[in-house]
Amino acid sequence: MDSTALDLKSYFNGSRMKKDGPNGKNGEGNSRKESVERNLHTMVMLFSLKEEVGALAEALRVFKDHKINLYHIESRSSKRLEDSYEFLVECDTRAGNINDAMEEIRAKSIYMTVISRDHKDNTEAVPWFPGKIKELDRFANHILSYGSELDCDHPGFKDQKYRERRKYFADIAYFYKHGEPIPRVEYTEEETKTWGTVFKEIAVTEDNIPQLEDVSNFLKDCTGFILRPVAGLLSSRDFLAGLAFRVFHSTQYIRHPSKPFYTPEPDVCHELLGHAPLFADPSFAKFSQEIGLASLGAPDEYIEKLATCYWFTVEFGLCKQNGKMKAYGAGLLSSFGELEYCLSDKPEIRDFEPEKPEFRSIPSQSTSQSTIWLKVLKTHKEKSGNSRLEELAKDIHSEMELLMDALRKI
Ligand SMILES: [Fe+2]
Repeated sequence: MDSTALDLKSYFNGSRMKKDGPNGKNGEGNSRKESVERNLHTMVMLFSLKEEVGALAEALRVFKDHKINLYHIESRSSKRLEDSYEFLVECDTRAGNINDAMEEIRAKSIYMTVISRDHKDNTEAVPWFPGKIKELDRFANHILSYGSELDCDHPGFKDQKYRERRKYFADIAYFYKHGEPIPRVEYTEEETKTWGTVFKEIAVTEDNIPQLEDVSNFLKDCTGFILRPVAGLLSSRDFLAGLAFRVFHSTQYIRHPSKPFYTPEPDVCHELLGHAPLFADPSFAKFSQEIGLASLGAPDEYIEKLATCYWFTVEFGLCKQNGKMKAYGAGLLSSFGELEYCLSDKPEIRDFEPEKPEFRSIPSQSTSQSTIWLKVLKTHKEKSGNSRLEELAKDIHSEMELLMDALRKI
């Protein structure tokens, strides 16, 4: 009875069974929305029942009694106990009493693990994470801010034409699936002009915006990193999970032309001038992937630590080359003002020491308003050849194997 999957559609009102994949084969809004809802409110329980006749039927009754919809159930040989079976159940967390059901299942089980995106209220749950690169498709709609909706203080808020363009870019990201070429964009004259304004401050005049697909292919040849379009800001957890698979989520739209030197969010200038070049460097690519691997299934406080480490280094890091201070943080490289300021004698520059209190969270103050804002990660090799991140990644590897195996079955 190894790996027996049962379709429970007719058993437990499973009318939300996914049919068309994350974005809907037909590209229909309802299908996409349905899939997003499901992704956000799905919990997976992995448990092995005590040996009793009819134990599985008993377990299924628990879900029914608590009015919980099941999407998928599977039985297979136990990964932890020899000559035993375990069950993997994927259920909807929105209806019914999931906590009581979990307690009852736990009482009937030898062991139980929960994997969920709704882990915030459930301290025992392991946060869901992608087990394979294709599952990054599930992040497409989990944008924290912006996307095609702009806040009232965004420079493009009152510009209908700009908002339409943002919807166009958001749709590319929403419907993009791993493995497809990134759609080429015909940037408007105004957009190209904005790019040129930013670009010539940093390097030389440029008269076209590079296509993500071309940059992605180049990086793939260098280090195996690829870009994938995203409509706006992802959560730290989702963003870091992409790095684990050598995938960098990149926006494709450009900032509003009224403020070419200001953007309240990452845009194609920030991604291509700031982030992309670094992914061509093998040691940087490895470092990024280590951060990503360490994030998979990690508790929220770890995610915050990793995101903070990322902020002080990848976003705003400086390093020394032949005794000369240089910027490598994307936030610095993509902004002439920040770049000029960080290399002047104005900021106080410190070694990056993650254990010190001042490095424990991302500063809320805008960097340019602060007199002490810039920290230095000496050089990646110096501090991380032995890297604690590498150690951390190794530590979680064995437990992750089990969880990834469970995730692969979903
Ligand atoms: Fe960034």
